[in-house]
Amino acid sequence: DTPLRDLAAAKGKVIGTAVTGSKLTGTYGDIAGSQFSSLTPGNAMKWETVEPTQGSFNWAEADQIVAFAQAHNQQVRGHTLVWHSQNPSWLTNGTWTSAQLSSLLQNHISTEVGRYKGKITAWDVVNEPFNEDGTYRSTLWYNGLGANYIAQALTWAHAADPAAKLYINDYNVEGVNAKSTALYNLVKSLKAAGVPIDGVGLQAHLILGQVPATLQQNIQRFADLGVDVAITELDVRMALPADSTKLAQQKADFKSVMAACVAVTRCVNVTVWGFTDSDSWVDSTFPGYGAATPYDANYAPKPAYYGLSEAL
Ligand code: XIL
Repeated sequence: DTPLRDLAAAKGKVIGTAVTGSKLTGTYGDIAGSQFSSLTPGNAMKWETVEPTQGSFNWAEADQIVAFAQAHNQQVRGHTLVWHSQNPSWLTNGTWTSAQLSSLLQNHISTEVGRYKGKITAWDVVNEPFNEDGTYRSTLWYNGLGANYIAQALTWAHAADPAAKLYINDYNVEGVNAKSTALYNLVKSLKAAGVPIDGVGLQAHLILGQVPATLQQNIQRFADLGVDVAITELDVRMALPADSTKLAQQKADFKSVMAACVAVTRCVNVTVWGFTDSDSWVDSTFPGYGAATPYDANYAPKPAYYGLSEAL
């Protein structure tokens, strides 16, 4: 079969996967390097990973993934700079004034984006800023700095790497709904204010048979605002055990997500959140669910793999 990355390239698209650095060897490394044109570190660039103790840094896994990507002519999506989750305990347990929080965040962004300047195609600068009803999520950042933390983070990231495409990324924003409309309105106001915002990431952690009917329409409305769109964390979870009926539905779901991206010029990247069922966050996060990726745990392509290839 023609590798997914070649099929995607022929349509002007990039196809990616989240990866775990320690696994990038053997069959896992062969598939990651040959089938995909973009890598996202699943955890390696998160704040708790890169600065577990204040002022003491661990870039080993992030460096390794960036080097692997360069050796395989792949893009890297940096993930993620500003989030409420997976922050180091020294940060979350600290007592900070607004001025201190602001300078901690600016330093974090300048340090990390600066380290990888020129090597990262796109950064998920801000991750998961919204609640389901479209209000801002109550986080360390929103509570300490107000909604302006988003514009500031984007501005600091742009200063550290002017060529990187800067994204806001969230989940349950795949279809047209209150949350995606809040994201839409935010992007519109950031653009009007001249804040550097290049794209939106739709995570797409989906449930079997529940691809939103308005996915393509939603991608198109962001494109029409003048930003790129990426499907950043695609997986389709099913109640275990898997069977042939569920796997066929999963194929249809992966195919329709890819087809929606292919249909919109400014949809630039579809990234799966782990390409194998042996490297997925689903099983531990959603008990009773799994089999959410395009390859089984033994690295055999599943029907979902052919759903992706048939849409390309
Ligand atoms: C997940 C990782 O895959 C897990 O290994 C980790 O334990 C928790 O985070 N949305 C995101 C990703 O933006 O960073 C999350 O990744 C999955 C949900």
